[in-house]
Parts: sequence; C-alpha cells; structure tokens
Amino acid sequence: MSSVKLRAPSSQWIVGGRPLSRSVALRSEIRRVAATIRAGSYTEELVQTAKSISSPGRGILAIDESNATCGKRLASIGLDNTETNRQAYRQLLLTTPGLGEYISGAILFEETLYQATTDGKKFVDCLRGENIVPGIKVDKGLVPLPGSNNESWCQGLDGLASRCAEYYKQGARFAKWRTVVSIPCGPSNLAVKEAAWGLARYAAIAQDNGLVPIVEPEILLDGDHTIERTLEVAEFVWAQVFDYLTQNNVVLEGILLKPSMVTPGAEHKEKASPETIAEYTLKLLKRRVPPAVPGIMFLSGGQSEVEATLNLNAMNQSPNPWHVSFSYARALQNTVLKTWQGLPDNVEAAQKALLIRAKANSMAQLGLYTSEGENEEAKKGMFQKGYTY
Ligand code: 13P
Repeated sequence: MSSVKLRAPSSQWIVGGRPLSRSVALRSEIRRVAATIRAGSYTEELVQTAKSISSPGRGILAIDESNATCGKRLASIGLDNTETNRQAYRQLLLTTPGLGEYISGAILFEETLYQATTDGKKFVDCLRGENIVPGIKVDKGLVPLPGSNNESWCQGLDGLASRCAEYYKQGARFAKWRTVVSIPCGPSNLAVKEAAWGLARYAAIAQDNGLVPIVEPEILLDGDHTIERTLEVAEFVWAQVFDYLTQNNVVLEGILLKPSMVTPGAEHKEKASPETIAEYTLKLLKRRVPPAVPGIMFLSGGQSEVEATLNLNAMNQSPNPWHVSFSYARALQNTVLKTWQGLPDNVEAAQKALLIRAKANSMAQLGLYTSEGENEEAKKGMFQKGYTY
C-alpha cells in the first residue's frame, strides 16, 4: 500500500486511497516508508519547463551577474559600470539572431528581467521569440557563516515567495540559487548542511510559485587538492542536497542541477584530461542523482572556453540518464566581451562570437565537438581565487 501526502498546510494523508488523520496514517505506516509526492498547482508546468530547457543540443546562457560582478566584466574592457552600459551589453547578448538554436534558457539578473532593448522590446519577449526560456537569479549573495572555518552562506529566503511570484508575472519560468562550498576551508559539516538546506528551501519555494529551480552548490576550484578529494566532497554535498530536497517534497522532475565538474583543485600540480574529468564527474552523478532529474547544466567555474566545451563533450560520448549540458557564464561570454569592446560597430562581430561558442557547446552536448580551429584566446583559463558572482 502506498501513501501520498497532500500539500501543506492540509497535512492530510491518503493511505491506500482513503484519507486518514495524520496520527492514524503514521500508525498504519509503522515499519513502512511513506512515499511522498507533492501535488502543487504548477507541477505539470514545471515538468514541461524543465523538459524544454533540457532539449537536445541546447543549454543555458548565464548572464545573471550581479551589478557588482557585471561591473568587473565591463571594467575589463574599459567601460564604466552604469545601467546604460549593462543594458547595452545584455542587449547585444539577448538579441543575437539565431541564438535559440543552441540556447534553451537564459538566466538574468533582476535589473535585466525588467529591461528592454533601446527600441522598447522587452528582453523577455526577445527571448521568447527565439524559444528561449527566461530565468532569474533569486539568491541575495554570499556572506560569512559565523561558527564556520571562514566559510560562507547564501542569503535570500526572506520574501522569496513573493519575489518569485513577481518574477513569474514578469515572464520568468526558472530560477537560480548559487551557493558555494570551499574544499580548502574544510568544508565544515556546518557549511555543507547550511548550503544543502538553503538550496532545498529555495527549491520548494520556487516550485510553489511556478519557477523551475536550478540547484547550484558550486564546489569551488580553489585549492591544490586531488580529483579524488573533489569527488569525495562532491559526493558528501550532493547526498545532503538530495536528502533535503526530498524532505522538502521538491518535485525532482521539475528541477535542474548546476554542478561543478569534478576536477583537481586549480592549484594542483597536475591537470586532468577531459576523459578523466568526464569519468569522475559521471561517477559522481550516477552515484548521487536520480534519473527523475531531467537536466544537468554545468557551470564553467573559471575553466577556459575550450576546456569547458571539451569536458562537456567528453561527458556525452555515451548515453546518460539525464540531459548533460551547459549553463556557462564566463565560458560563453569571454570572447564576446573582448570582441565587443563597448563599440556599436563591433556588435555584429560580438554576436557572431557568441554564436560560435553556443554552437560549440551545442555540439558538445551532442558529443560531436572537436576543438579544431579554436583560437588561442578561447583556450585561456579564467580561474580567479575567491571568485564571487
Ligand atoms: P561560470 O560559468 O562563469 O562559472 O558561472 C557560474 C554561474 O553560476 C552562472 O550562473
């Protein structure tokens, strides 16, 4: 006999098709594990959204840099961090003709979600026109975690439900929450538990308001540890994330994951090949991620554009239970920014550069990429110690 828990706050249980009070249900369930499902009003839509973002040969363009981080990007090409410059840069990216062939979702920062092109077309409509799902970063960034080993925790749960409802009205259909785990800092049990619990609470709230949550515990590249150590930490982190996701009755068919690839620390003496990274990363995923999850959308984490693409390609050499794809920020934007230089005359060339990267990652999603003909710039790593987003 299976039992189904209806959505809170009704706290009613259906056991063998009959509604029972909680205490009776619990007594009759002794020695049996209750299989719980959440029957939220958005469930079908969430599953559909997650499926469409996970469509073959496509992945996510992450351009959800906070204003401070976007400022650093603009500074790298000598531009001031003004709203006009941020809008111009995002317009270049979001109006790239043909982008939807390779990109299924775009993660925006709040400012961008409400912005329009200089001709007055809302960015969300530009995306919809290309069959790209608009998404929104909803976390409020990292702050020090008292009682830990110099680690951080991610803020943003207060008021999250009403913000998600507003973002949905504005056209967003998925959300992102990025928290980090640092291997050189331990990680401490406290930091991992806090990261996993925060992600699970956020995921439940996002789903309740119609947004597919991207679950992103970024295990930072910082450190000189081995690839085995990264695997060990990643297994520990993901075990807790899925434990808390299920405790919070999150519908796994309606989420997306954004893991880091399993690599040695950035300061480790030896680099790993794409084949080794794929072997370790797939081992992690197979051990920890149920096949109910539709899509795994990797972050690039400071890898070079070409490295991130080669690693993704190596993971798609044989069929996987989930769509294995990308949700890159730096590994999609680096050459674009350098090509643009803030000059209107360079917009077309910069959009072409974006299409080249998007297509390369699309091929990698299909396992068909080769790095032949890639330029030297795209091979330069972008790792920075203590990187924030
Ligand atoms: P990177 O691909 O630059 O690591 O971006 C991470 C991220 O969380 C973007 O949403």
